Amino acid sequence: MIDPKILLDFIKERRSIRAFQDKPIPEKEIDMILEAGRWAPSASNRQPWEFLVIKSKDVLKKIARVTGYGWFIGESSFAVAIVGKPRISGNWYVVDTSLVSMNMILMAWSLGIGTCWIGSMNKGKAKQILGLKANDYLLTVLPFGYIQGDIPEPTYRNPLNKIIKEL
Ligand SMILES: Cc1cc2nc3c(=O)[nH]c(=O)nc-3n(C[C@H](O)[C@H](O)[C@H](O)COP(=O)(O)O)c2cc1C
Repeated sequence: MIDPKILLDFIKERRSIRAFQDKPIPEKEIDMILEAGRWAPSASNRQPWEFLVIKSKDVLKKIARVTGYGWFIGESSFAVAIVGKPRISGNWYVVDTSLVSMNMILMAWSLGIGTCWIGSMNKGKAKQILGLKANDYLLTVLPFGYIQGDIPEPTYRNPLNKIIKEL
C-alpha cells in the first residue's frame, strides 16, 4: 500500500512531457515501465494486449512523420506501441489497453521519465511501419525520455463541484 496523500499528490504532479533529453534509459527502468503495464487490470483478466518496444531511432523518426502533433516521438529514447487484440477481448480491448497506458505513464513519472499519449497520428500508416496486422488495434505509441527543460505548469481541470452529481 502507499500513503494516499502521497499517491494523490503524485497523480496531480504528473504532466505530459514533449521534450526529451538525448540520454539512454537503463534496461531496468524500461522493464519497470513494461511490468507496470503488464499488471494493469483487464476485463475477465483476458489481457488483450501486446507491447512493441521501439528502440530504433529510424523507426521512431518514421513514426514521428505520421503524427500530427507528436513530432517529439522522434526525440524520445524509446517508445512503446500499445497494441490491443480484439480477438482476445472484443468488447474491452480499448478500455484494457488504456489502463495499461496509464500504468506505464505513472510508472515512468515515478522514475523521472516523461511521456505523452499521442493520439494525433495516422494509425494506418503507423501500423504499417510497425508491421502490425490488420486486426491489431493500435491504441497509441508512448514516447519515453528523461525530461528536458522545466516541468510544464499544471493544465486546467474542471472543479469537482462542476463534475460531481450526488444521488
Ligand atoms: C487520448 C489522448 C490523446 C492525446 N493526444 C495527444 C497528441 O496527439 N499530442 C499531444 O501532444 N498530446 C496529446 N495528449 C496529451 C493531452 O494533451 C494532455 O494529457 C492534456 O492536455 C492534459 O495535460 P497533462 O497530461 O499534462 O495533465 C493526449 C492525451 C490523451 C488522453
